[in-house]
Amino acid sequence: MGGVAPRPAVGAVVVQNGRIIGEGTTELRPGRHAEPIALAEAGEYAKGATLYCSLEPHAFQGVAPPCTEAIITAGISKVVSPLEDPNPSVSGNGFRQLKAAGIEVVREASDEQIKRAEFLIEGFRHHLKTQRPLVTLKLAMSLDGKIATRTGESQWITSDASRARVHEMRRQTDALVTGIGTVLADKPRLTARDSDGNPTGRPLLRVVVDSHGRMPSDAPLINEPGEILWIVGEGVDAKPPAPNVSILKSAQIKSKIDLTAIVDELGSRGLHNVMVEAGAGLAGAFVENGLVDKVAMFIAPKIIGGTEAPGPLAGLGISAINDALVLENITHTVIDGDILIEGFVSKSN
Ligand SMILES: NC(=O)c1ccc[n+]([C@@H]2O[C@H](COP(=O)([O-])OP(=O)(O)OC[C@H]3O[C@@H](n4cnc5c(N)ncnc54)[C@H](OP(=O)(O)O)[C@@H]3O)[C@@H](O)[C@H]2O)c1
Repeated sequence: MGGVAPRPAVGAVVVQNGRIIGEGTTELRPGRHAEPIALAEAGEYAKGATLYCSLEPHAFQGVAPPCTEAIITAGISKVVSPLEDPNPSVSGNGFRQLKAAGIEVVREASDEQIKRAEFLIEGFRHHLKTQRPLVTLKLAMSLDGKIATRTGESQWITSDASRARVHEMRRQTDALVTGIGTVLADKPRLTARDSDGNPTGRPLLRVVVDSHGRMPSDAPLINEPGEILWIVGEGVDAKPPAPNVSILKSAQIKSKIDLTAIVDELGSRGLHNVMVEAGAGLAGAFVENGLVDKVAMFIAPKIIGGTEAPGPLAGLGISAINDALVLENITHTVIDGDILIEGFVSKSN
């Protein structure tokens, strides 16, 4: 996941006589699909084998040739795959082509398998439906609902293990979005790193929302590999401080960047998943503008206290509990004493 859009993230495994003989995952854009990688690894042993894949194999000539063709040519005898591809150019055609070639197609899977397969394509599915990326708001707060101390310190509220999970989430996303407040206060690098602090995965696209062009030219995130999209207000005279920085001048509403236009822009650039990692100002604005699709909230068993210490979301908020955003399809994960609550913003909100 991450960096594979406009294609869906897929996993494929070739099994012969109970042994895995080939494995593949979608390569970074513009690389290969999962199925041909797994089939190539299996080689001639793919004949008569079973192919398990997380999504229906695609059935049309796009940038890549149809995976159905590769499966038929390899002599696979059975395909097990839980999900029909929501892309209208496929939606069932892949399974139909395989069946027409005499391949047994099995669609049954456990709820857990379906959930995992759906997770891989949640951004792809969302983008097909809305032409926008799936926006995940990630936050970390203390047990008493604070994202920083009264002096603005927030590093680190959560455990090492939770932060490792955040780095994994970064690798799985197409872009990270942050606000100028966080860039100035925390001087983040916004990269995916391992426990020794070394970069892992591909360089990430970082999006900085900065109405007045206040990002300093020595902001640490600029020196990290990966592009930066610096979003400033229309009238701002900003120059890219480095070759990896490009500027997007955006419309403003009450002198702040129009976030709906930004999400539309990221969608039109083909991004499927973006993660917002910002302070209360930008996070609150994303929520108030109805732009958050999924929430990932880390809650650490620490108490910070103080009326001046910020909570996760600034802005006006709601006045009636009935108007609260409600999450559905919720999961709770305990990570070294922290709790990660993830869920999708209910469509009825
Ligand atoms: N615990 C966590 O999960 C976490 C994560 C990140 C940061 N933090 C903490 O949060 C604090 C920083 O919070 P912050 O609120 O200042 O930073 P922020 O949310 O990262 O950035 C807020 C800034 O974004 C700009 N912005 C542009 N368009 C906007 C819009 N439509 N709506 C709202 N803001 C818009 C505004 O500045 P302009 O008007 O100048 O554009 C605004 O001041 C720091 O203490 C940091 O440590 C905590």
